[in-house]
Amino acid sequence: MIILKSSDELLAMRRAGLVVARAHELVREMVRPGVTTLQIDQAVEEFLRKENAIPAFKGYHGYPATICASVNEVVVHGIPSSDVVLEEGSIIGVDIGAFVDGFCGDSAWTYPVGEVSEEVKTLLKVGEEALYSGIAQAVVGNRLSDISYAVQQYAESFGFSVVRDFVGHGIGRKMHEDPPVPNFGPPGRGPRLKAGMTLAIEPMINAGGYEVEVLEDNWTAVTRDGSWSVHFEHTVAITDDGPQVLTSLQE
Ligand code: MF3
Ligand code: CO
Repeated sequence: MIILKSSDELLAMRRAGLVVARAHELVREMVRPGVTTLQIDQAVEEFLRKENAIPAFKGYHGYPATICASVNEVVVHGIPSSDVVLEEGSIIGVDIGAFVDGFCGDSAWTYPVGEVSEEVKTLLKVGEEALYSGIAQAVVGNRLSDISYAVQQYAESFGFSVVRDFVGHGIGRKMHEDPPVPNFGPPGRGPRLKAGMTLAIEPMINAGGYEVEVLEDNWTAVTRDGSWSVHFEHTVAITDDGPQVLTSLQE
């Protein structure tokens, strides 16, 4: 069942989304060679608690940290660790979820560590633009899979692939609500989009094949072929005035 949000509820979701956006600004400033993913996790947790926000991932199905920190061939759900030291030329996907006044914001972004190769710059750019291609389809009257199709077409037109095993989701008082939001598939399928729907759209784009596998820790998802992967996610409201990005810094 898809839960529609009232305009007051959307204001509350925007407050949650803004805290997540500000946490990402903190991450953006921290990412550099020599920093560990655990240091970033601790800084984000401290920031969220100072803002009276509750980390959404910690304890979720036993997940042990505030952020997911996914370096290079790690697709999603990398567990922060003092053993993972960021190196020049790498990329790190940071996923942050937080509850404020009972509503959840969820956003992921992939950052370059220092200077990265031209190929990696392209992967980052295409991943971000794939997300915005999907967001552009989050309009009243479209069907859900119009979002999925737009993301896939965009990413594949650059020769990259879209992960199948993880998808986006509805979001609200819970981090995961209906409907699932795949980043692939034909257009014109699934529920019709209505004002008040709130979706976390989160493409994961691989430089190589789309297959992923989960490591023995039961969280860390890596590309099967070792190619690098990027993850970009926004929480988005569908409104009569078009898509509203709830996890952006501005507006
Ligand atoms: N953005 C991810 C999701 O929506 C983050 C979940 S990580 C978890 O599923 F640890 F909470 F599972
Ligand atoms: Co999400």
